[in-house]
Amino acid sequence: MRAYATTDGLAVVDLVVAAGMFSREEAGFLPDELLPGDGGGTCLVEEAEDGQGLASVLFYRPEEAADRAYDLTMIAVRPDLQGDGRGAALMRHAEEDLRRRGQRLLVVRTSGTAQYDRTRAFYRSLGYAEHARIPDYWTDGDDLVLFTKRL
Ligand SMILES: CC(C)(COP(=O)(O)OP(=O)(O)OC[C@H]1O[C@@H](n2cnc3c(N)ncnc32)[C@H](O)[C@@H]1OP(=O)(O)O)[C@@H](O)C(=O)NCCC(=O)NCCS
Repeated sequence: MRAYATTDGLAVVDLVVAAGMFSREEAGFLPDELLPGDGGGTCLVEEAEDGQGLASVLFYRPEEAADRAYDLTMIAVRPDLQGDGRGAALMRHAEEDLRRRGQRLLVVRTSGTAQYDRTRAFYRSLGYAEHARIPDYWTDGDDLVLFTKRL
């Protein structure tokens, strides 16, 4: 795993499009968003062993108005590499990094649609508790589901 660099922009877009999170047009904002900036975010990427771009990406940033809370803004694993423990290892990495930095809470916002059933099961399996659902948040028929974990 290494820090995201400007030259990873296209590979990150390929990865999140392949993972079904965004269309290519929607993902256009990502390359700049993931660079270290005023928001204090951390973006890490993992090169695929087969040399075909990135295996995964992870991005977390502080919840500005809260006391020592972070938002897990993005996690994605290349579809053909999913289900093999990579996602869990990334989450453990973020949690350990934030614990070391004295942080208190990690917040995850995801979707309530059937497409994200497995993603919600993934967070539950890692000890995240569902605390809220906001109907029609992402768009009509697509609820926000909010999980947190104490660090
Ligand atoms: C969500 C995601 C990051 C998980 O990464 P992953 O590498 O596939 O997950 P892991 O292999 O580490 O799985 C960890 C745990 O999740 C759960 N899980 C994995 N696959 C599952 C499945 N098909 N059904 C239910 N639970 C499952 C299991 O509890 C698993 O633990 P186990 O390996 O001990 O059984 C990945 O699937 C992904 O990129 N999905 C698309 C993008 C996405 O949804 N991102 C999050 C947006 S909020």
